[in-house]
Amino acid sequence: MNGQENSPTVRTVASTQSEMTEIILPNDTNTLGNLLGGRLMHFIDMTGAMAAYRHARTYVVTAAMDHIDFIRPARLGHLVTLKSSVNRAFTSSMEVGVKVWAENTRTGAVSHVASAYLVFVAVDEHGRAQKVPELTPETPDEFRRYEGALRRREVRDREKAHRKEAKLITAALADSGLIEP
Ligand SMILES: CC(C)(COP(=O)(O)OP(=O)(O)OC[C@H]1O[C@@H](n2cnc3c(N)ncnc32)[C@H](O)[C@@H]1OP(=O)(O)O)[C@@H](O)C(=O)NCCC(=O)NCCS
Repeated sequence: MNGQENSPTVRTVASTQSEMTEIILPNDTNTLGNLLGGRLMHFIDMTGAMAAYRHARTYVVTAAMDHIDFIRPARLGHLVTLKSSVNRAFTSSMEVGVKVWAENTRTGAVSHVASAYLVFVAVDEHGRAQKVPELTPETPDEFRRYEGALRRREVRDREKAHRKEAKLITAALADSGLIEP
């Protein structure tokens, strides 16, 4: 794993902040005229990647999108605004938080429609994980998200270990003919 030449070793959350606004068009909606969940996840992935790129300054890939709350629907014709920033950087991975608002273009009313956490991994042109700069939180909110990111990483690691264990058990049962492979 290599560090990037000429890159600062520490970055601020502010330097990673990213934003995207889209108008919700008919192709983005379901038959009720609500923004499709999958389309929203695509917007979330894109806005999350922008923050990760600004932190890593190298290629990044999405490793996990592990927690999305769809709080209320966004409707056809609304403006949807997404804001992201890196919550914490680890060795090659970064947790990014994304928050989404919808704006009714006629009334101007703005509502929080979704929030998500994603993990991006910095990679080189061959897809090999690369070390990322450290992230320094500065404000009380940034410290809260920084601490939360460590707890969520521990949960992710435990879930990954459980999935691995379940796979091994399934393989062993299949080998012994107790279940269908
Ligand atoms: C993400 C990926 C690069 C990790 O590669 P890997 O060989 O498993 O790398 P490692 O085991 O060394 O892990 C590298 C980092 O990724 C993190 N990681 C790997 N899998 C993860 C997962 N499922 N969830 C969260 N983090 C994960 C590890 O915790 C580690 O973080 P750290 O360096 O900060 O400690 C690889 O699995 C991959 O390329 N996946 C496909 C990505 C993709 O196609 N995304 C969609 C399109 S962008």
